[in-house]
Amino acid sequence: MSLRVKVKERLGKKFDEEIRFFKGWISNTRAVGSIIPTSSVAARRMASVIDPRSHRPVLELGPGTGAITKAILEAGMAPDKIVSIEFSTDFYNHLVERFEGVKFINGDAFDLDNTLGPLKDVQFDSVISAVPLLNFPMHRRVALIEDLLRRIPAGRPVVQISYGPVSPVTAMPDRYQISHLDFVVRNIPPAQLWVYRKTN
Ligand SMILES: C[S@@+](CC[C@H](N)C(=O)[O-])C[C@H]1O[C@@H](n2cnc3c(N)ncnc32)[C@H](O)[C@@H]1O
Repeated sequence: MSLRVKVKERLGKKFDEEIRFFKGWISNTRAVGSIIPTSSVAARRMASVIDPRSHRPVLELGPGTGAITKAILEAGMAPDKIVSIEFSTDFYNHLVERFEGVKFINGDAFDLDNTLGPLKDVQFDSVISAVPLLNFPMHRRVALIEDLLRRIPAGRPVVQISYGPVSPVTAMPDRYQISHLDFVVRNIPPAQLWVYRKTN
């Protein structure tokens, strides 16, 4: 295949993802949050915190079109060690087709025990989240982060992408620590990456 054809195919695929995302955004702006899929730069940075050598799986929230799922796989995580929860059935159907072997669940990340079902007692290595936290009230954001931190070992991270200037989850220093992982300009819109860890 010539380079020109390959480039054309790649651009076509990327455009398809953007159209799919935009359709998802039109049908449910509140749940989707952003209007463009996460950039590969931001996705790679988020995935850089996982430990692919861990025997524990990674938990992903809000995979959308799968930009971050792809980065998690490229960081060396085996597909069968990724559990990924997506609320939108359209995105879910596409993800199942696109990523063989990854355990996708079509459900609500804010209702983890029910959504995880038989996996509800699993200890994960880390959590990578793109759910649009800013669209939910603060008490639900805090409850989600605390629920996630109960499902990973002390010291391991919950990474959250967000678009505001400050952490989308308010500080609770006696319960968890917040650190700033990165500010990614090469994302639309530019993204802040936050890390939450259990306080010892
Ligand atoms: C900003 S988009 C993520 C974009 C994704 N990283 C990509 O590149 O396509 C947020 C995603 O979170 C999903 N979402 C929103 N609320 C959710 C919930 N309560 N549980 C699980 N997923 C949710 C949306 O359907 C959407 O796919």
